[in-house]
Amino acid sequence: MASEGPRPLVAGNWKMNGSVAMLKEPRLLAAMLKDVKLKADVMVCPPAVILRRVKSVLKGTRIKVGGQDCHWNPLGAHTGDISAEMLKEAGCSAVIVGHSERRTNHGETDEIVASKAKAAQRAGLVAIICIGETLEERKAGKTLDVVARQLKASLPEGSTAANTVIAYEPVWAIGTGLTPTTAEVAEVHGLIRKELGQLMGGEGGQTRILYGGSVKASNAAELMGQPHVNGALVGGASLKAADFLGIIKVYT
Ligand code: PGA
Repeated sequence: MASEGPRPLVAGNWKMNGSVAMLKEPRLLAAMLKDVKLKADVMVCPPAVILRRVKSVLKGTRIKVGGQDCHWNPLGAHTGDISAEMLKEAGCSAVIVGHSERRTNHGETDEIVASKAKAAQRAGLVAIICIGETLEERKAGKTLDVVARQLKASLPEGSTAANTVIAYEPVWAIGTGLTPTTAEVAEVHGLIRKELGQLMGGEGGQTRILYGGSVKASNAAELMGQPHVNGALVGGASLKAADFLGIIKVYT
């Protein structure tokens, strides 16, 4: 895969899937990747309750572990929430914030997402900040406006290429089997790159921009081959080691 720019990242978002029985999948993935020369970083983001177990399964491998969400405070009276510091202590190197399922199901605004991203960076984690338009917004020709607005409002001050990853995930492509055309992906990623330059200066050119939404082995090479696509955020196809490997192999 010839892609210039920052080292790509392929991250698997398990969402609310995962159990002790599923620990065999990261174990298998690590075994399958053992002797593979990779031009990308690989990460899995399991549910919080099995984070430490996944981390221990992956000990000594190059597969990183990330969280799926965090609170903006380091500790306190927030029943059911998890802080970025807790994720860090559990062995995470990153956390997803602002996923459209959080924005929709939990009413998270750009302002909340920015405070969560800031918390992640404070704790020494990489904030994987998700943005993306709905189908209505795309049909109304508002995609670029929406993405630029979300990016600006969700990116905290002090973001750098080392502590920030942007994931462009069109809401209508998540879990649906639908994907934008390569031209549409290239257009949005180009816009994000330009906006990052304005928001982050020189760091913007080195910040990874992932594509997410129905990525699978059969479309990964095409999607990942677009300019300014520096990896993927993968949902459904990250649950089985063999499927996930098919995507990761784009970067061999
Ligand atoms: P999907 O999910 O790959 O199942 O479409 C992607 C995501 O929500 O990160």
